[in-house]
Amino acid sequence: MKKLMMTTVTAMVALGLIIQPANAFAKKEEIVNVAHRGASGYAPENTMAAFEKAVDMKSDMFELDVQLSKDGELVVIHDTSVDRTTDGSGKVKDLTLEELRSLDAGSWFDEAFTGEKIPTLGEVLDEYRGKIGILIEIKSPSLYPGIEQKVADALTERNMHKPNNNKIIVQSFDHDSVQTFHSILPSVPLGVLVYNPDHLTDQRLEAFSEYASYVNPSKSLVDRELVTRIHDYDMDVHPWTARDRESVQALKEAGVDGIITDYPDYVD
Ligand code: G3P
Ligand code: CA
Repeated sequence: MKKLMMTTVTAMVALGLIIQPANAFAKKEEIVNVAHRGASGYAPENTMAAFEKAVDMKSDMFELDVQLSKDGELVVIHDTSVDRTTDGSGKVKDLTLEELRSLDAGSWFDEAFTGEKIPTLGEVLDEYRGKIGILIEIKSPSLYPGIEQKVADALTERNMHKPNNNKIIVQSFDHDSVQTFHSILPSVPLGVLVYNPDHLTDQRLEAFSEYASYVNPSKSLVDRELVTRIHDYDMDVHPWTARDRESVQALKEAGVDGIITDYPDYVD
């Protein structure tokens, strides 16, 4: 029904029966600036230094990746092993919180960041609630049964489970996990991450719209037609990951609602 109404409105616009606003293509005038893994072009990804840099650069939100330690604590790190972004080695799920916290998560990026730690999700929420929006990606949830409940608990304990202005969004590439989260905490806006173009059919978009507010595709999949189709299902689009000014410009021209970028200064 929603799709039919949008199609009718589009037809009325085409016939000149409705006057379009100046910025008719984008739904909003401001593009949401999302610092990917924090401002990770300028500081080591998924560290407090990168999140602080996102605040300094006046991003609207930062994105982070959450996984579980061996002892079931929510930790903020992208890869499922610590090898690339710390001075340690091994899988995140095989290391305790104490072991993970003993690692240096900064010097791989630059010596100036020596001593940065792998943060816990709670630490990040406590430090940044009310200061900046937080886009939480549940990373590889099939490795971590029950992680959705733990993320929901972390938000609820802090009374962050009814976020204003979409200042907390939870997303995942694992759409079953997103639906699980929705069943636990339906008040939190959700996003589906997509890298496969076959997952962007109208049928899929309609199914996403039952529980998600955002469809966040790889930037390589984004054009005006896709953005329009996602908007037709009343969802927003925050593509990833823009790492050059040309990509940012192309995404703006496609009418996206937000841009997930390592370089927040490229967006404004
Ligand atoms: O927020 C989207 C983006 O983070 C997804 O890709 O690999 O950087 O987690 P990845
Ligand atoms: Ca991510």
